[in-house]
Amino acid sequence: MRMYNIIKKKRDGRELSKEEIDYFVENYVNGQIPDYQVSALLMAIYFNKMTARETIDLTKSMINSGDTVDLSKIDGIKVDKHSTGGVGDTISLILGPMVAACGVPFVKMSGRGLGHTGGTLDKLESINNLRVELTTEEFLSNVNKINIAICSQTANITPADKKIYSLRDVTATVDNLSLIASSIMSKKLAIGSDAIILDVKVGSGAFMKKVEDALDLSREMVRIGTSYGRETIALISNMNEPLGKAIGNTLEVKEAIETLKGNGPDDLYELSLRLGTKLLLLAKKVNSEKEGRILLEEAIKSNAAYNKLIELVEHQGGDIEQIKNPELLPKANYIIEVKSKKEGYVKSIDAERIGQCALKLGAGRKKLDSKIDYSAGIILNKKVNDKVMINETLAFLHANNIKKAKEVEEELKDIFDIGDKNEKCKKIVYGLVTKDRTELY
Ligand code: URA
Ligand code: CA
Repeated sequence: MRMYNIIKKKRDGRELSKEEIDYFVENYVNGQIPDYQVSALLMAIYFNKMTARETIDLTKSMINSGDTVDLSKIDGIKVDKHSTGGVGDTISLILGPMVAACGVPFVKMSGRGLGHTGGTLDKLESINNLRVELTTEEFLSNVNKINIAICSQTANITPADKKIYSLRDVTATVDNLSLIASSIMSKKLAIGSDAIILDVKVGSGAFMKKVEDALDLSREMVRIGTSYGRETIALISNMNEPLGKAIGNTLEVKEAIETLKGNGPDDLYELSLRLGTKLLLLAKKVNSEKEGRILLEEAIKSNAAYNKLIELVEHQGGDIEQIKNPELLPKANYIIEVKSKKEGYVKSIDAERIGQCALKLGAGRKKLDSKIDYSAGIILNKKVNDKVMINETLAFLHANNIKKAKEVEEELKDIFDIGDKNEKCKKIVYGLVTKDRTELY
């Protein structure tokens, strides 16, 4: 078999066999196939797509590229969550501690920032000394002890996804249904959780721009999960503006802390509750949505969820003083206020462009080996539907590079679309996909 022929076959729009998919995945992981050939194949997949069969085979191949983790020794129904990637998506840092505090084991292998979106691992690593590279033993022991672990794909789990994910990030081949579905589901299936919730983002800041596409992606992932005998459901949620107010690593850690203390932004809190309720139901901890919501709200009011975040940080070697006193987290040298030139209502805040601005300030990677500026990012002072006066602050830029910040300042004024009248209500969740049905809200 030759990689050249596999690239050519996909370039010409034909279906790859299981053997061809296994061949490229295996040999890319063991270093026999160079990045440039895989980049070309990814671009061919991007344009010509993969069939459902190819997508399942790619997922299998990626799972088989490394080890799998058996969670059967951990009592209870273990749950996992994954987002398809958004801007300011601080959910995992809130949802994980919330459900763990309710007694449900939350096991999660997360990713780093991809394209214009942020990654949970980068956010966690903005806390001093926090380790996301846990051994399988540490990972299991933490879940046993405190009901939660969030780690990276080390311990040789889906090494194929790890390599392909980084390559997609820098070759503009992220937003393809099969590549996203196989990437997410291989990670979820390599870890033996019993139930999986997928937060499929749709809108300007998501890889899927239309609800139809998000539904297709959801169905594909639910199909893959179900074929492996895992209870898998997907919520389709709004990513037309960034989630919450903070975008950027330490800024989002602070936002998560605030939310766990009950003082978070409404949309972030509400989505955490919606996802959490579904997880408690999947884990058979509660019998109704209402009961689930009450349990989660109690975990916030009693500080149990906040204390769970502290335990998580502690067990992964992080500095808990930075959680107890977020002022100790790294801070940017400059904070610039972005003022409105117009009066009116915020009609939209293009989340992808906001994500790109955060990237420009240093909050994400431009190349495979770029270093992240953890303190850089954006705090939105206005969200969609808010009233704005001339010269009122739209956002605060947190930056260490003043020149870049000035450029971003101008761009942000343009990204906030300010109009005459209020837009219709903002939906947080559009729908639900389970193995049997699709519900639209
Ligand atoms: N998250 C992932 O893990 N993979 C993708 O491809 C996109 C989002
Ligand atoms: Ca946020």
